Amino acid sequence: MTHHRIIHGDALAELKKLPTACAQSVIADPPYFNVLEDEAWDTQWKTSADYLTWCEAWVSETMRVLREDGLCFIFGQLGKREHTFLHLMSRLTQQQTFHDLVIWDRAVGYDERRDSFTPQYEMILVLRKGEEVKFIKDAVRIPYDEATIALYLRDKRYKNKTARLSHLQKGKYATNILRVPSLKGQSKEKCGHPSQKPLQLIEKLILCSTDPGDTVLDPFLGSGTTALAAERTGRCCLGIEKDPNYLQMAQKRLQTDLFSTSKNETPRS
Ligand SMILES: C[S@@+](CC[C@H](N)C(=O)[O-])C[C@H]1O[C@@H](n2cnc3c(N)ncnc32)[C@H](O)[C@@H]1O
Repeated sequence: MTHHRIIHGDALAELKKLPTACAQSVIADPPYFNVLEDEAWDTQWKTSADYLTWCEAWVSETMRVLREDGLCFIFGQLGKREHTFLHLMSRLTQQQTFHDLVIWDRAVGYDERRDSFTPQYEMILVLRKGEEVKFIKDAVRIPYDEATIALYLRDKRYKNKTARLSHLQKGKYATNILRVPSLKGQSKEKCGHPSQKPLQLIEKLILCSTDPGDTVLDPFLGSGTTALAAERTGRCCLGIEKDPNYLQMAQKRLQTDLFSTSKNETPRS
């Protein structure tokens, strides 16, 4: 049975109260620093130096609560002027162990720029704690289309066509560029948070880094995407959110999903 604990409070203060090694995986989608200029939560630091110092503090606490074989996924978006996430990655990887840099390909661009290419990705820095990590590569596969399966089946090197077909039907391993369409204005999944992440994306991160029953921690829960993704994949979630309105949004979303059967928009992986 899954269990969720949603805490109203400041991430750093609340993280300090959590026991060491209580989370198998961390999905952190923190404020970006001056990227969403109309959001008070994204513009609360005077300088990027202040923001970086704050990030180092919460990441350090997050790594403490992560299990030895766990992974910590940290989202970061570059703004038109701000490139603070590049500095953050540089600083964090000098203090913590780098594991990977995943690109979330949003499939379509956003906030069109006249002076450069249209931005279409977000970075996800992945940190690990110990030498050996839990990573379930088989849990996130990308299906081949029918034409590709038919083409590959013609390969004469594979004599046992039944075995070859069942292998191909599993799909291929996902690369570290995860292509998941960002949520459009008319999407049924959208619930009013300005940087809500798609369930399908968060589910992939959960599925590759945890087993059913494991705990996923999200220190910046927002609209509750991680809690909902954890619920849908049979994991437990520990979430922290400072803004009471978003906290309510997350609780309502979780409750509605638990009691509704309309999970058609983003099917379980
Ligand atoms: C980028 S959004 C997360 C969006 C979330 N991933 C979703 O899908 O809805 C960052 C969230 O962090 C919250 N936040 C900002 N500062 C915080 C703090 N010090 N402690 C906890 N939450 C904070 C904001 O209110 C915002 O909801």
